[in-house]
Amino acid sequence: MTAEFNGRSFAGPLSSLKRTYNPSDVIGPTRSDSPRFPPGPRGYPILGVLPHLRSDPIRTFLNAADQYGEYVHIKAGPYHGCLVSDPSAIRHVLQDNARNYHKSPLYDRLRDSLGNGLLTSEDSSWLRQRRLAQPAFHRQRLAAMADAMVACTDQMLERWDRIAPRGDTIDVVAEMMALTQAIIVRTMFSADLGATAEIVNRTWPIINRRIGETFWSTKLETTLPLPANRRFWRALRELEGVVYRIIADRRQSRREEEDLLSMLLSARDEETGAGMTDRQLRDEVVTMLLAGHETTSLALSWTYYLLSRHPGVERGVVDEVGRVIGNGRPAFAHVDRLTFTRRVIEESLRLYPPAWGFSRRALSDDEIGGYVIPKGSLVFLIPFVVHRRPKLWPEPERFDPDRFAPEHETARPRFSYIPFGGGPRGCIGNQFAMVEALLIVAAITQRFRIELVPDQDIRPEPLITLRPAPGIRASLHRQPPRDVRATG
Ligand code: HEM
Repeated sequence: MTAEFNGRSFAGPLSSLKRTYNPSDVIGPTRSDSPRFPPGPRGYPILGVLPHLRSDPIRTFLNAADQYGEYVHIKAGPYHGCLVSDPSAIRHVLQDNARNYHKSPLYDRLRDSLGNGLLTSEDSSWLRQRRLAQPAFHRQRLAAMADAMVACTDQMLERWDRIAPRGDTIDVVAEMMALTQAIIVRTMFSADLGATAEIVNRTWPIINRRIGETFWSTKLETTLPLPANRRFWRALRELEGVVYRIIADRRQSRREEEDLLSMLLSARDEETGAGMTDRQLRDEVVTMLLAGHETTSLALSWTYYLLSRHPGVERGVVDEVGRVIGNGRPAFAHVDRLTFTRRVIEESLRLYPPAWGFSRRALSDDEIGGYVIPKGSLVFLIPFVVHRRPKLWPEPERFDPDRFAPEHETARPRFSYIPFGGGPRGCIGNQFAMVEALLIVAAITQRFRIELVPDQDIRPEPLITLRPAPGIRASLHRQPPRDVRATG
């Protein structure tokens, strides 16, 4: 499945990528002594590269960085922005001068669904909510959640026990999605979706697709009563119904759980003493529900995609799980010892970062890399591109978990690896996701080998997250029994 693209060799399913804009159309610096914007592709009059971004954002950003380097001017319709892939500039935007940046207007489409929750809010309301939620992600809490993560995985594996002998195939993406969804609901809200899982499974893909497809659309396009918009509103109302039910059930039961939902419900405004409104609660719960399962499920799906293509690495995982856990039950205590498996997941997050790109808007003029970032302009931070810069990642298309061995990690500049973003707005769930992914891979590996059905055309589809499209079909094979006891 190796493909040549733009003079580079892709080991992954990017073979469908083609260039669409003319690289000789360059918007140059406007003044030679103090350039306003770095050079970049000109694209069409007025629209710039908007049509390219709408039809294939990843290819457009990759091409731009390949052609123009670490700083690229991107003009997309009404937006002017800078694609940045130099780690020190990324650090500047996400960390050192983070106060000067808000999430870009492109997050408005996310706001249509998530409202004003932790992912989309700003300034004091963000800080209050972040402080409130943070304790739910402390290490002791993660240790307490590990058992629920393994229990949910066990339920899936029991179903797989019934599927495997029949020789039926599974869709790895759908399986991982359902699993991580069950885990987030159990760990953060101490709930079981039960029959309502069907609603989430049905509505979330509609919502997710619509967010991805309307990312570059105007407000008007998203508010007209078109069939696609109506479908989205209906799906959102149904999903909200599930979320309001989770909140109402907890309020009625007056159960005290040590989970995020309890923290949100017991929060009081310092000045007024008022609790959160149902709408605020809805926004936080929807945010956690969606941000907390989709990305991890895709990280796992891409990991299995890559493992199936690298049997030597897969054997390494099987050996490590056997050595560290043997036939025992995976637990939080094993997580730090699954060092090779962690590197495999980290490398998978490098090649296929589920949150493949994000962006910011400058609140006042700034300067990065000698270029001016004028107030109101955007900065594009695209992990998919940064993780493929050959200066940072030699032979970037090669799947090589050893890149994450400690000696290589320390040699790389910080912010050259940003699957979880960084700085104060970095992912609150990154440790949660790693613990979850490691325990799931360990539990699956003990019992099954996932073998991809041959000759599938799997491509990364950049919606709001990076999905393997149209899915990953695989057959399940029981691992041969091990008589080796854990020794690691
Ligand atoms: C592999 C899995 C995950 C990936 C790749 C990922 C990626 C990211 C990224 C890149 C951001 C920053 C977005 C930006 O700067 O605009 C982010 C933020 C966030 N993530 Fe994750 N995430 C993952 C798992 C999780 C999990 C498991 C949870 C919850 C349990 C979660 C909840 C959030 C929240 C609430 C934010 C917003 C944080 C804030 O702004 O304070 N994520 N995530």
